[in-house]
Amino acid sequence: MNYRHAFHAGGFADVIKHIVLVRILTYLQDKPAAFRVIDSHAGAGLYDLTGDEAKRGGEWLTGIARIMQARFSEKTAPLIKPYLDIVRAFNPERDLKAYPGSPLIARALLRPQDRLTACEVEPKARKRLIDALRRDTQARVVDLDGWVALPAFVPPNERRGLVLIDPAYEQKDEFERLAAGFAEAFAKWPTGSYLLWYPVKSRRATDSLAQHVAGVAGAGTPPGQCLRLEFSNRAADGRGRPRLGGSIDRQSTVDAYG
Ligand SMILES: C[S@@+](CC[C@H](N)C(=O)[O-])C[C@H]1O[C@@H](n2cnc3c(N)ncnc32)[C@H](O)[C@@H]1O
Repeated sequence: MNYRHAFHAGGFADVIKHIVLVRILTYLQDKPAAFRVIDSHAGAGLYDLTGDEAKRGGEWLTGIARIMQARFSEKTAPLIKPYLDIVRAFNPERDLKAYPGSPLIARALLRPQDRLTACEVEPKARKRLIDALRRDTQARVVDLDGWVALPAFVPPNERRGLVLIDPAYEQKDEFERLAAGFAEAFAKWPTGSYLLWYPVKSRRATDSLAQHVAGVAGAGTPPGQCLRLEFSNRAADGRGRPRLGGSIDRQSTVDAYG
């Protein structure tokens, strides 16, 4: 396995993914009943932005660094604030030096009754995640293939919660695995929320995934709701501002950066 998330930590894709993650968890907090977060491909948890990999990747400079400087409209600012507050909590000094990955972001939003299960198979990343969550009684890091864990861990005891599926896309068949993994998990837990994260490298692959997901979720009882958001850091003509587009049940087009 060659993938190392440290090269991409805090990049524009992480920023969008983690804002969506925080929005979903903030929504789940609306009810006092406990929820569970299952992070099937969790990563190392905390990334050093001053480290060699983050420096070489440099993605955070056009991602989290830019978002931290941006000014948002009155409507958008409160939606993004909980995410920015979490990132700030990992950076008590003014300079940005660290970026939390999905398990630590999720952990920051657990209430005492909530739980996190995080799967990571790459030994170094897993060790770092275990270190980051050491002695945490609400979070569990497991050395289990995320694709195996996915159907095995649902439904969780809490019966409410979120599954984040964010693989490395190193294997050719990972879109198919994502489609199959989601279908299997959804069949066992149709009332869960699922956040499926993928790179838009082939329109055919993403359209086919979206159709599959809509078909699986739509056939559930009650039918699931799907929101598809695809983000490009370039306008269609290769210039202009970054764009975010969405489809399936709802259509939305949003400028990602103001
Ligand atoms: C894109 S990164 C995860 C980033 C993380 N979700 C975040 O947002 O901060 C994908 C991670 O999945 C791990 N991984 C790859 N194959 C896996 C598998 N079959 N099961 C669990 N983890 C896997 C990789 O080592 C890598 O750390």
